[in-house]
Amino acid sequence: MQAPGKPSTVPLNVVLIGFMGCGKSTLGPRLAEKLRFRFVDTDNLVVRRAGRSIPAIFAAEGEAGFRKRESAVLDELLAGKGRMVVATGGGIVTVPENIPKLKRLGCVIWLDTPEAAIWERVSRNQERPLLRTENPRETVRTLLEARRPLYRAAADIESDSSDLTPDEAAYGLAECARMHFAGWRPAENG
Ligand code: S3P
Repeated sequence: MQAPGKPSTVPLNVVLIGFMGCGKSTLGPRLAEKLRFRFVDTDNLVVRRAGRSIPAIFAAEGEAGFRKRESAVLDELLAGKGRMVVATGGGIVTVPENIPKLKRLGCVIWLDTPEAAIWERVSRNQERPLLRTENPRETVRTLLEARRPLYRAAADIESDSSDLTPDEAAYGLAECARMHFAGWRPAENG
């Protein structure tokens, strides 16, 4: 244990990763409230810094422009202080350098929501530029398949809370995060 008063070297934020529609923006604020952390959403920060919406960024700068802005926001958060729950955009893991940065930022929780539930949620909202394709159902399947290994590589904890209410899920995630911060690991003979 660190001497009292000495700053901790362990990253103390919670970072939510996962595919579009997996529940990051719904669970994030609830989890932040339970942990008494600040809630931050990388998509919102990108929009604020750019002064335009996500579809407008994609239209003017392409996906590459959006990714640059998203990575810059991640750097900004790494330089920040205070404890946060950070909800990230679903594609943040597609920039390889972002994965170690996410890990440095905090305890990374992958909301591994089943594909059917994801589709059910994202098909209600037309705001996501990457899903404006001829066959968005197929796009979800392909993107999810490509990204699963990236989410897995970044995650400290994987969670499927699709059968729980948001409050139940946030309660469970808060406990997982606390165990992580306490240095929890499975006992070798446990
Ligand atoms: C994206 C996910 C979106 C947003 C952008 C790109 C992606 O965020 O960052 O449209 O590549 O999966 P959500 O995961 O919050 O929908």
